[in-house]
Amino acid sequence: MNAVAKEITVDPEKLSQASELEKMVIKGGNELNGRIRISGAKNAALKHMVACLLTDEPMHLMNCPVHLGDIKMQAAVLKTLGAEVVLREDGLAMIHTPSIKNHVAPYDLVRRMRASVLILGPLLARCGKAEVSLPGGCAIGTRPIDMHLDALTQMGAEIKLEQGYVKASAPNGLRGAEINFSKISVGATENIMMAATLAKGITIINNAAREPEIVDQGEALIQMGAKITGLGTAKIVIEGVERLNGISYDIVPDRIEAGTYMIAVAMTGGKVVLENTRADLLTSLIAPLKEAGMHIEEDGKDLIVERNGVDLQGFDIMTEPHPGFPTDLQAQLMSLMSICKGAGMITETIFENRFMHVPELIRMGADITVHGNSALVRGVAGLTGAEVMATDLRASVALVLAGLVAEGETVVNRIYHLNRGYEKLVEKLSACGADIRLA
Ligand code: UD1
Repeated sequence: MNAVAKEITVDPEKLSQASELEKMVIKGGNELNGRIRISGAKNAALKHMVACLLTDEPMHLMNCPVHLGDIKMQAAVLKTLGAEVVLREDGLAMIHTPSIKNHVAPYDLVRRMRASVLILGPLLARCGKAEVSLPGGCAIGTRPIDMHLDALTQMGAEIKLEQGYVKASAPNGLRGAEINFSKISVGATENIMMAATLAKGITIINNAAREPEIVDQGEALIQMGAKITGLGTAKIVIEGVERLNGISYDIVPDRIEAGTYMIAVAMTGGKVVLENTRADLLTSLIAPLKEAGMHIEEDGKDLIVERNGVDLQGFDIMTEPHPGFPTDLQAQLMSLMSICKGAGMITETIFENRFMHVPELIRMGADITVHGNSALVRGVAGLTGAEVMATDLRASVALVLAGLVAEGETVVNRIYHLNRGYEKLVEKLSACGADIRLA
């Protein structure tokens, strides 16, 4: 780690204002060849940052995707609560919360970054009270937080909904409980796992989510002194402890970022080495891609991804909780499928409104018909560049991928979504030969 790495400034106002005006301009047709370093997982980092609220000792998070809008926003949320946060250029996040000075996460921050609802569990556990603005809907659906609130209530919290805020208190501390989730939820599993680390007694989470980011978070909590078993299974058991200590922790690589670049190579052709990643995090994508004709090989921490000369065959995919196919790669896969040979069916089972990219892809020449939560994608000979509008993070990147192979110029508007979740996207793709720039 570089001892003199520069600090990154965090200003939530500037974050959204500047990037809302930016566009991305792509000229399609170039193969991708080169190396791309995969960042630490956004969806793990956001939760590790929140878990820092559970200890009064300093925490050092390494391999943190510090350039992402969501990470800077989470830093702003933590600062509001009294944490000292330093994000450094070299991917180190230093977070220290000697005491909680304020227990309210205001609307203005929560509306911009949904994952801030995850402060509920840790704040209740650490100081017995928390107020978080209700996150409201988002582009991919209503996304309620009822499961988070029900489980915290079972652990002894009193919860009121007033003036758009969740007001939670547990004056006598949280206590362990047996939680039976009706659905598999990543966020609810994480929130309750964090809360349970400092609760009195044993908490059992049944029907827990098994995503690698949850395992990563659990492993960090164990190093901090938490007692957790069953990570990566549907039953997680947590025995509460008195206090947790600070640690240094290396965040798991971003499997969605790696999967996105894998799909990019499948579309453009060429050979790219993805550095700092793990094939075992992506088996649900690698298996069908190989079957469709891609060459993908693991070499230590690198993944060699190659498509030379072969036409890929379309296939069917259904999104499911881990270890199924991730909903966060569904849009990107649809871009790929739209230029494969034959047809493929994509079924979305996690979010009710996650086909917002379909009309934009159709404007670029794709042949897609949506029936309920399934999309039938018939491969076309080629896509054509167009001016398109990004609606959410993964839909935006799907349009970028389409632009990489489309004939002519594609302009992606509203790219602030991309800045939220893909670190140095333009640099990483142009280093491999893509003609892509911000305008
Ligand atoms: C996380 C990821 C997101 C990913 C999603 C599913 C982060 C920051 N975000 O989101 O990128 O797409 O997992 O893999 O990690 N639900 C309820 N009630 C609740 C909670 C969830 O009904 O209280 C429903 C949701 O509406 C959705 C399903 O459960 O239909 C799964 O959502 P969940 O796993 O909680 O997603 P997030 O944690 O928000």
